[in-house]
Amino acid sequence: MKIALGADHAGFEYKDRIADMLRKTGHEVLDFGTHDATPVDYPQYGYAVGEAVASGQADRGIVVCGSSLGIAMAANKVPGVRCAPVFEPYMTELARRHNDANVLALSERLTGWEMTEQLLRAFFDTPFEGGRHAHRTEQLFQFTDDQRTRTLKAIEGGSVTDAQTPKDLL
Ligand code: RB5
Repeated sequence: MKIALGADHAGFEYKDRIADMLRKTGHEVLDFGTHDATPVDYPQYGYAVGEAVASGQADRGIVVCGSSLGIAMAANKVPGVRCAPVFEPYMTELARRHNDANVLALSERLTGWEMTEQLLRAFFDTPFEGGRHAHRTEQLFQFTDDQRTRTLKAIEGGSVTDAQTPKDLL
């Protein structure tokens, strides 16, 4: 697989270790940096990895920051990205099985390296289940103005059950 990697100054050491590991196991790596501890802004790295995955330049992405949260938020701004910040293996398995996560967000400050290796294994070894989960993951990219209006109306009405955009309008 071709894997896009990105990290800020609080995640670049894990990012570099992950790059080595992936290369050794036959993956191709697109490393968008950062490459040292000089403070940088995590959104730029999340966007770069997100765009690489959404455009098809990379099959999957991995982003790392101090907590995993900021860089995941940035990656998830890119339409086509389903980025999951994860902290334990079963959560990672579900991110693949149910949510078809195409970008994994990791925390260098909160997660030990051995656990990180387990999370990476789960990310690469777990397939998407599809089926009932497929139309839900599709809806993640249908948050249009029309959908927003429906959601706001549904909130006012007290029930979100009917807020979904009808299929013939998609
Ligand atoms: C950098 O200090 C830190 O805020 C960043 O790596 C990340 O944890 C943000 O979500």
